[in-house]
Amino acid sequence: MKQFSKIVLLFIVAMGLALQSFGVNPKDKSPHKVYLFAYATEKDKGHNGLHFAWSNDKVNWFAIGPEHAFLKCDYGRWGGEKRMLQPFLFKDDAGLYHCLWSVNETDNVLAHAASPDLVSWNRQTYVPVMKEGNVEKLSVSAKGGRYHIHWISKDKPYGNSTIDFKNYSATVSSAQAPLSTEILLNGGKQAGSITEVDYTLVENLIKTAQAVKYKNTHNKTSPESDAKLFAGLKPLQAKITIDAKKSKKISNLLTGVFFEDINYAADGGLYAELVQNRDFEYNTGDKTGNDATWNHTTAWTGVFTLDSLNSIHTNNKHYAVVKNGAIANTGFDGIAVKAGEKYDFSVFAKGAKFTVKIKDASGAVLAEASIKPGTDWKKYAAVLKPNKTVVDATLEISTTGETAVDMVSLFPQKTYKGHKNGLRADLAESVANLRPRFMRFPGGCVAHGDGIENIYRWKNTIGPLESRKGMRNLWGYHQSMGLGYFEYFQYCEDMGAEPVPVLAAGVPCQNSGTGGAGQQFGIPMEHMDEYVQDVLDLIEYANGSATSAWGKKRAEAGHPKPFNLKYIGIGNEDLITDVFEERYTMIVNAVRKKYPDITVIGTVGPFFEGADYREGWAIADKLNIPMIDEHYYEQPGWFINNQNFYDSYDRSKSKVYLGEYASWGSTMYNALAEALYLTSLERNGDVVSMASYAPLLAREKHTQWNPDLIYFNGSEVKPTVNYYVQQLYGSNPGDAYLQSFVTLSDNSEANKRFGVSAVTDAATGDLIIKLANVLPVSITPELELKDIAPVGAATYTLFTEKPDSKTGKPNVTTLSAKEALVKELPPYSFTVIRFKTK
Ligand code: AHR
Repeated sequence: MKQFSKIVLLFIVAMGLALQSFGVNPKDKSPHKVYLFAYATEKDKGHNGLHFAWSNDKVNWFAIGPEHAFLKCDYGRWGGEKRMLQPFLFKDDAGLYHCLWSVNETDNVLAHAASPDLVSWNRQTYVPVMKEGNVEKLSVSAKGGRYHIHWISKDKPYGNSTIDFKNYSATVSSAQAPLSTEILLNGGKQAGSITEVDYTLVENLIKTAQAVKYKNTHNKTSPESDAKLFAGLKPLQAKITIDAKKSKKISNLLTGVFFEDINYAADGGLYAELVQNRDFEYNTGDKTGNDATWNHTTAWTGVFTLDSLNSIHTNNKHYAVVKNGAIANTGFDGIAVKAGEKYDFSVFAKGAKFTVKIKDASGAVLAEASIKPGTDWKKYAAVLKPNKTVVDATLEISTTGETAVDMVSLFPQKTYKGHKNGLRADLAESVANLRPRFMRFPGGCVAHGDGIENIYRWKNTIGPLESRKGMRNLWGYHQSMGLGYFEYFQYCEDMGAEPVPVLAAGVPCQNSGTGGAGQQFGIPMEHMDEYVQDVLDLIEYANGSATSAWGKKRAEAGHPKPFNLKYIGIGNEDLITDVFEERYTMIVNAVRKKYPDITVIGTVGPFFEGADYREGWAIADKLNIPMIDEHYYEQPGWFINNQNFYDSYDRSKSKVYLGEYASWGSTMYNALAEALYLTSLERNGDVVSMASYAPLLAREKHTQWNPDLIYFNGSEVKPTVNYYVQQLYGSNPGDAYLQSFVTLSDNSEANKRFGVSAVTDAATGDLIIKLANVLPVSITPELELKDIAPVGAATYTLFTEKPDSKTGKPNVTTLSAKEALVKELPPYSFTVIRFKTK
């Protein structure tokens, strides 16, 4: 409330200043009707979206914002391809504003969105009805209940008409040229359209632009800005009362992990295979823009030919033929092996006898074995035990005759929980040590893919490894699918985490650039039944009896007992369009009909606000979807300033799974902003059921996304400071939230920097108090417990580092409960106090 009035005050001052600088005194000159000019800046070539300027005489124009875009086009691949050209704004008879625009010079797509106030825009439609691309001018007029669109492409006028901006009449050459308006704005010419509007609307646009600017500035906090903001602040005291009588049930699944195959998280990461491109199926097409150096021979050296005649499986066409020579695999930046440990070598081979060797960088042989294959394809195996620990070994296969090889594999026997085809033990353990209550997989964008052909199909990832269908990873490399759905389910089971698979909602990533731009009109409706069936089959694969069609495949893979799947995600932060809604609705309804006990998790776009968020929630309300997956990556200041984000969520609506979030950075400051925000998620644990930091894993030198929670290379795992915050929450969950009342000795901005959350855990009977201090001064607490009392000593975990530090670990000690409840909380610290209660 305090913060809100501050914002309002700031608006009023800002508004006054803004209007004065426009030469308008709001007190005595508020014209009822003014002109609004809508345009996209020429110099940005449409990348910067829709802008407005206003005037009361069509001569003197005042830019609103002016850097603020009120609407951005979401068509096409992320980055440079999302453009808005020649926007035309008009108001219909019902008072709704419409904006139409061309998306680029080539795709002939006419885009449309509508808004009641020019601030909140509804979903966009993209219809390929234009001709000759390169729209030079565009306008709309209304006549006889229809909207007539006129435009010029390549100097020729065209037109069509519509009543709903979804279905258009055939495009014809038109005699009528579009209306075109040019104004002089800030000394330069701008082309656009003029609409007459109420001045109150303009006022609201100005306020909106100012508010965005204010919030952005306000969210840009850092240790440096803290030093100024809190200069002179003395150590604080905090009176905290925790009342066990005022408690509510919260989710006991609150923190978990989101695994995506990004940053080499799967192949070259969690999947323990040490050979890269073991099946010779890497392809130049795996890389955006086709990289010729990335191909069937990637990670292999030596002389060999590639063949695909009579291959080991139709899904695995290529193999290598070595003649009187040797080939070697360099792994993922070298193969890391440990002296004295056992490694399973396996290969499909035929032809002459061959020798396999693990060699170090100097060429010294660390382990070797010889195999004499037959004349037909067969799988062979050997155990290799290197005599030296190195991080950059190679795996060599040599022959004095002619040998064909495929699926060349080297696996440590020491995998996580010892599974064959298992997970790299150190990495899998570091994820398991987060104590995740669930795991979402196999990805965000990876799940819905770069184009329809790249949608992740779970059926391609199960069964014998040689039959799995590897494919291009949207993040610009290859996914072998060696880590497939069976392995994901098994990993969840091993960690005691609920599996949360996420499947595409029948549309690829809104940022697709392959096979067309953006969402690409979805899987054709004639193939949707088949796709819906795939989704249903996944549930049978996980939960069906070992004799059911898909349950049988799970049993064959070694798991006759069901995996007890309870959640399924449909869609990943998709662009909410009609194309999306039609397919999403089909899938959601089919799952609910056949498996009413499965909790469907829907999607509401990539941000905490905006059209996708609003429209996604509207669909969730309409379909009564039990849980919604929200995503946001923001500045640490956003997390500090938005701790009340869920306080006002309607408890009668869908629950929330915060499936992806992170503050932009890997410093202690970021980690603490997240720790603070998590206190607010616990407080809202009655509506927020699950939350997972993203992305989880990143192999050094192969990151497409930063920051990540855990970095690694071939032999080391490097958790970030953010990791330890997640771990402290994961290890200290509760199932009831106890209300706490906090009074800080300084009644200022400092309040927002101190988060307290008290939960109890029914299984252990423990009370857990989390205290996040994101201030440059210490806080001495005075904790009063009502209707709950400690028994015995407290486990006291303190995590404190300099705010810009990227290293450090929590320190665990045992204190008497009395001491723990009053112990000073250092500046920039996160503390967890845990004890038994009576
Ligand atoms: O976590 C990285 C990416 O962020 C995910 O793939 C996507 O869902 C989001 O945009």
